[in-house]
Amino acid sequence: MWPLLALVLIWHKRASSRAPFPSQRRTMNPDQRPVFGVGDASFQAAGGEAGLQRLVADFYRVMDEAPEAANVRAMYPADVSEAADRLASFLCGWLGGPKRYAEKYGAISIPQFHTRWPVGEAERDAWLFCMEQAIARQPYSPDFSEYLLRQLRVPAERIRQVQAACPARPGQN
Ligand code: HEM
Repeated sequence: MWPLLALVLIWHKRASSRAPFPSQRRTMNPDQRPVFGVGDASFQAAGGEAGLQRLVADFYRVMDEAPEAANVRAMYPADVSEAADRLASFLCGWLGGPKRYAEKYGAISIPQFHTRWPVGEAERDAWLFCMEQAIARQPYSPDFSEYLLRQLRVPAERIRQVQAACPARPGQN
């Protein structure tokens, strides 16, 4: 009995010495880097709300300038300032930060919302191209840059899939 109790005590001491707070054991890698996607780690890595506003401003700047993005730029209004606020607000909650989009604009289903535009592979890739370029302009770590783009590919591809199943009917939403 006593040897068993001693073993349990040693194990407990070693486990608690690895990280002082229980929450850190769940949200940090052993080398104390945050695990993106847990809590608000991604939101923080993106620089919070100000960081996301910079990312989105660069995203639309790239879209304005890059010939590769002309197909998607044509879908947006000339003035993208409201679209920029909506996208930055959405990304805020999507990355684990405050749910600004829901607070300001209500609920949204990203694939459903986009069914009013024809989004195939070319449009999906052009949109992701703008994001990739915008991400590259931020002071993000290579790990977070790679993570963020990988995550964005998921809803972008979902938009395309929903389109493929139910082609866009402009004006129907
Ligand atoms: C796959 C390629 C995509 C295309 C071609 C596309 C295109 C568009 C267009 C044309 C608008 C309307 C802008 C306006 O009139 O104000 C828009 C709005 C928006 N998009 Fe996308 N989008 C894409 C992917 C995504 C993804 C992956 C996300 C989320 C991660 C996203 C989130 C949003 C949000 C939050 C809005 C604003 C919604 C609102 O008006 O309330 N989009 N998008």
